[in-house]
Amino acid sequence: MRKPVIAGNWKMYKTIAESVETALALKPLVANANHCEVVIAPVFTALKTVADRLEGSNVRVSAQDCSTETEHGAHTGEVAADMLKDAGATYAIVGHSERRQFYCETDESVSRKTRAALAANLSVIVCVGEMLEQREAGDAEQVVSQQLRGGLGGLTATDLPRIIVAYEPVWAIGTGRTATPEQAQEMHAFIRRVFREEHSNEAAQDLRILYGGSVKPDNIAGLMSQEDIDGALVGGASLKADSFAAIVNYNR
Ligand code: 13P
Repeated sequence: MRKPVIAGNWKMYKTIAESVETALALKPLVANANHCEVVIAPVFTALKTVADRLEGSNVRVSAQDCSTETEHGAHTGEVAADMLKDAGATYAIVGHSERRQFYCETDESVSRKTRAALAANLSVIVCVGEMLEQREAGDAEQVVSQQLRGGLGGLTATDLPRIIVAYEPVWAIGTGRTATPEQAQEMHAFIRRVFREEHSNEAAQDLRILYGGSVKPDNIAGLMSQEDIDGALVGGASLKADSFAAIVNYNR
């Protein structure tokens, strides 16, 4: 059985005070959510405070990115994965489409960040997803397969349980245009097939695949009813404690 993961990506929206306020409001609302792992990803500067304030709760904290570099040293502006762990993170998101589109993230840097995060004992949420033109040209699977093979090549069987894939079609992010549960399921099943080819049947069966892109309280149940959808990576609707809690506590 794959335990679902429902993660809120707070992107660059909240100050420390705002992050703590939302995290503390969320904590009691999801305290009984034993059916899934609940994760929030505040900005770097709020990570430690939020993680400290959530200690002892069932809400875990994720970084939104990490450095490709593992050796501490002259890398101005970078934050090493073990420093994120030190600040209280349990997960790191890597390869988000906003980083691929606007901050020169490549499959190669995703691969290096994934390894760095694994080496620091973090679980890694690796994001993949096609742009609208690529879907319209019929290239969605080819794009996602390339991102998976490029970002996750060379991992060992012991690494795989800490890998989570998030399928986020770029055309569905922040647009209000969710993939239909069937569209998402089709790609999730494809991702599992790629994983089977690259790794093993067992690793593919155990892989958690999250859907992201305009997930809301009113569409989460439909998405989660699909066989290969094992959770969600939520942007806008995770910014308010009550709407994120409604997603976590979806009607099962
Ligand atoms: P939205 O839920 O706002 O579409 O964002 C999705 C996302 O990018 C999560 O990482």
